[in-house]
Amino acid sequence: MKIGLLTAGGDCPGLNAVIRGVVLKGDRIYEHEFVGIKDGFRGLIEDDIVPLPRQKVRGLSKVGGTILGTSRFSPITHGGTERVKEVMAKHEIDALVVIGGEGTLTVARMFHDDGINVVGVPKTIDNDLSATDRTFGFDTAVSIATESIDRLRTTGEAHSRCMVVEVMGRHVGWIALHAGIASGAHAILIPEVPVTPDELCDWVQRAMDRRRAPTVVVAEGFTFAGTEQIESDRVDSFGRPLLGGIGEAVTRLVEERTGLETRNTTLGHLQRGGVPSSYDRVLATRFGTAAIDSVSAKRWGTMVALHGMDIANVNLRDATSALKTVPRDQWDEAAIMFG
Ligand code: F6P
Repeated sequence: MKIGLLTAGGDCPGLNAVIRGVVLKGDRIYEHEFVGIKDGFRGLIEDDIVPLPRQKVRGLSKVGGTILGTSRFSPITHGGTERVKEVMAKHEIDALVVIGGEGTLTVARMFHDDGINVVGVPKTIDNDLSATDRTFGFDTAVSIATESIDRLRTTGEAHSRCMVVEVMGRHVGWIALHAGIASGAHAILIPEVPVTPDELCDWVQRAMDRRRAPTVVVAEGFTFAGTEQIESDRVDSFGRPLLGGIGEAVTRLVEERTGLETRNTTLGHLQRGGVPSSYDRVLATRFGTAAIDSVSAKRWGTMVALHGMDIANVNLRDATSALKTVPRDQWDEAAIMFG
């Protein structure tokens, strides 16, 4: 078969390891031919397609970013599946391996519904896809956030300041929860759990009373109980508002209410950059090799997933139907140590 690979949506550490896994196993075991589609769905619509022989994927598992480029380009509003079929026919592409998050996999499902041969691979640092226990990229993002919070704590302690750290995650709090637990934060604020300003200031005050420098980890999608989510007036190319700003709002609130000098750090895209962790390299490689097995077995419309320690195949429809949010009891476990 001739197979087209694309990476779409926000980049994520481990994308290149997936590409390597797909191409190496596909070449060695199945003798498939591969092409790379540039910048996600843009390359598929605008016919920006390059050969992807196995030499191109050498040494890639440790490389961050994606050699194919990525974008948040919607093919549905740019010619749709008819145009995709036309470009695939021109290049004699039999099937697509689409590596992406919820939005990308929703598009992949639409392709499948319209008769395009497609297999999905889940990626996102947010870890918010319900059909897989883990997505690659999450472990790296948590490690980067944890190391950053550890560093911020030492400067916070030196100045007796409260340090607020805003992390990514969109509408879920997985990165905040894990990095917060790992770094021993005094409060972790996530979108799934409403917290009032009084509760937060109580945790900060308790840490202060013990002469600790209070550390607050806040997920970008968090809002105080009864308030609106903080969104910027800018939108991404899917029209979704960019999140961010809650860290600064929390910082001002804590300083005003407790009188403690407080600083905000927004980690932003640092969480997506650089080399993937060994965990993410392994998971991404396993996803890649499993995806090419699915293509070879013609399991169209499915996505590879992690269930426990095992790789599974799930229907793309199930994979995109609901967000995987943090269960309340997992936050409660962490909250025992707040303050
Ligand atoms: O979905 C991954 C993610 O990093 C989110 O955590 C974040 O809200 C968003 O992407 C940022 O998107 P962009 O790269 O378009 O700024």
